[in-house]
Amino acid sequence: MKKIEDLSDLNKKKVLLRLDLNIPLKNSKITDTTRIDKILPTLKYLIKKKSNVVIISHIGRPKGKFDKKLSMLPVCKYLSDKLNIKVELIDKKISDIDPTSMFNNKSDKIVFLENIRFYEQEEKNDEKFAKKLSTLGEVYINDAFSCSHRSHASVDKITRFLPSYCGIQMNTEVNALKKVTSDIERPITCIIGGSKISTKISVIKNLVPKFENIIIVGGMANNIIKYKGFNIGNSIKEDGCNSTIDEIFLLANQNNCKIFFPSDVAVGKNKDDVALIKNLSEIENDDIILDIGPKTINSICTILENSKTVLWNGPAGYFENPNFAVGTKEIVKKIIDLKKRIYSVAGGGDTIAVINNLNAFKKLNFVSTAGGAFLEYLEGKELPGISALNT
Ligand code: 3PG
Repeated sequence: MKKIEDLSDLNKKKVLLRLDLNIPLKNSKITDTTRIDKILPTLKYLIKKKSNVVIISHIGRPKGKFDKKLSMLPVCKYLSDKLNIKVELIDKKISDIDPTSMFNNKSDKIVFLENIRFYEQEEKNDEKFAKKLSTLGEVYINDAFSCSHRSHASVDKITRFLPSYCGIQMNTEVNALKKVTSDIERPITCIIGGSKISTKISVIKNLVPKFENIIIVGGMANNIIKYKGFNIGNSIKEDGCNSTIDEIFLLANQNNCKIFFPSDVAVGKNKDDVALIKNLSEIENDDIILDIGPKTINSICTILENSKTVLWNGPAGYFENPNFAVGTKEIVKKIIDLKKRIYSVAGGGDTIAVINNLNAFKKLNFVSTAGGAFLEYLEGKELPGISALNT
């Protein structure tokens, strides 16, 4: 990949910078700033080189529609305070932005486009949209490793229209993951949790031949629990996954990979409830599975004790409510306890939030900002955002 440092003259150059500032928000307040803090070196570098920066990012999955709750405004304000410069949010439609109207004042250094996923063309990787977007810059930099597994217009097609480079954080993450995957020690345990079931479930079957243990917790475990014939009440699930799960178990058998899923869970009647521990056979129709139970935690700890490497993506429960954060916290604690014997890599927006919350960031060997991209990288796939920079 061509790197940002390869650009010789950035003075007054309009840089279209793709970042992944998909951070957790609660009532429009940022609850974890890691993804923003991680890209500050790239922004500081561009400011030092006197570039004019147009930031593109997304938050959430607004599916091509405007959603005030997913505005980039809080991120914009945070960046402005952190860098102590004006960072302006352009809320005009991209099709209405006149590139010559930008950066006419001396104080204009960084502008921010509104959430790029407010445009349906983004996820369609629409060529015309990418072309229009490209008119806002003279050079394109992707510093969003964590969404480089998406073939979206601002990640992929845009590179057809501008000289394209990778940013500092992207380069750091790719190099670190390259090293992790080439120097990896067995047995390897991969823990996959979180709520993005559709993104992750199809990845698992490709991971089965690579690891000794795959521990499935969080939303995806609900699909497995249901597949095994238990009631999951009102818990989140993805429909139409049974054939994928069939394949996962078949491949696991053929490849000597153990698939582990919860044997007990913590349920509530809603997300703000207190936790009630139940065996799988006791789950009622109005229960929501929101965490793993103590028996499951113990078994996970035993698996970790017998592993040399742990790769972890996605919390075990609805950690936003402390009553359902127990499983996730116990996993973090165990990984830290085993620090001298186990190499630990964690990734993903929510996973980072939990790790930060427990002040454990520096206690793991490597923490990636990426969730889905991290898993797809482990699959051995070339990510579209990375391929696009290589062509
Ligand atoms: C992430 O949080 O992993 C990235 O921002 C990608 O988000 P997505 O899964 O909604 O594409």
